[in-house]
Amino acid sequence: MRYPDPAQARGMPAGTPLAAVLPIQAATPMPVTNQALPGGYQLLNYRIDRQISRGGFSIVYRAFDDAGQPVAIKEYLPASLVLRTEGDVVRASSAENLTSFRYGMKCFFEEGRALAKINHPNVVRVLNFFRANETVYMVMRYERGRTLQQQIQMRQDQMSERFVRHVFMHLLNGLREVHTHKLLHLDIKPANIYLRTDGTPVLLDFGAARQTLTNTRPKLAPMYTPGFAAPEQYRDPDRLGPWTDVYGVGASMFACLAAFAPQAADARVQEDHLVSAKKIWAGQYSDNVLEVVDWCLRLDPLERPQSVFALQKAIRDIPPKKRKMTLLGNIKRMLFSEIGA
Ligand SMILES: Nc1ncnc2c1ncn2[C@@H]1O[C@H](COP(=O)(O)OP(=O)(O)OP(=O)(O)O)[C@@H](O)[C@H]1O
Ligand SMILES: [Mg+2]
Repeated sequence: MRYPDPAQARGMPAGTPLAAVLPIQAATPMPVTNQALPGGYQLLNYRIDRQISRGGFSIVYRAFDDAGQPVAIKEYLPASLVLRTEGDVVRASSAENLTSFRYGMKCFFEEGRALAKINHPNVVRVLNFFRANETVYMVMRYERGRTLQQQIQMRQDQMSERFVRHVFMHLLNGLREVHTHKLLHLDIKPANIYLRTDGTPVLLDFGAARQTLTNTRPKLAPMYTPGFAAPEQYRDPDRLGPWTDVYGVGASMFACLAAFAPQAADARVQEDHLVSAKKIWAGQYSDNVLEVVDWCLRLDPLERPQSVFALQKAIRDIPPKKRKMTLLGNIKRMLFSEIGA
């Protein structure tokens, strides 16, 4: 076992059976009944190839544009509000749901518009968004790779500090750009961090980015992903800010080390069982990396890094981990000291 007690690290009482220490949790799944668009379906000038993924609020497809280039298309389709049993047209499941659906659609559209202005290598590139079939679609550049969550689940041994730092330093460049555009992500977690095949990360899924840094409050029930959402997302939406995404970054770094999410923030507020990263992984990662994780995971928003820049500065200031003494290294060092070099 790499850490003293995984149950304890997750905020459960020490000695909780391993089977009860769940893997990283996703947001509560919704009953899914919506039918996906079929392969070969022509959606404007895009030809649907296949469904890649289905979430509670949307379906993501791989498609090809006129030039035969692959794209990813996200279709706004909240499972709890609308139903598509056949064909392509979406129908609200009740009059009340229609109002919420339309409001959500407007948000999805605005999110597409805001994202389309961001052109950064570490933020998913939005190429187009449009209305069709009574709903909205967001066309993105198609990325090849896997999510950080899949990477965590696949790995055999502990993630190296070098890898973790590489992923998050690049990701934070993207997140900084998002905040510069007055957007908050609000759902940063390993499942929304995509690792391209060349290892560079891309921030995906701005589905929760309904709250800009300046104006309106979301009217749809906000989504939380237990373990990754900051406490103010549950109880204090007036206090959302860059530090809220910083909490998600800290929780995602924690998940890279632990292979599971930290204790959910709403439970932590009641009774904080989260053991500090510095305690769990002392000696296995540099103190500074562990201190950064703990700093990001502070319950009080004011006690966290207040901006992505501040967080990046803290990560950059981390001295490189001491090199391991290898036999060859020791011999070289001895030889050099013998000859007085
Ligand atoms: N641009 C893209 N290129 C390739 N694959 C993508 C792209 N965007 C999304 N995907 C795939 O679709 C999956 C789900 O995407 P995303 O996280 O945006 O939606 P979601 O979690 O299903 O959203 P929601 O919870 O709002 O329904 C990703 O994990 C990834 O596998
Ligand atoms: Mg997602």
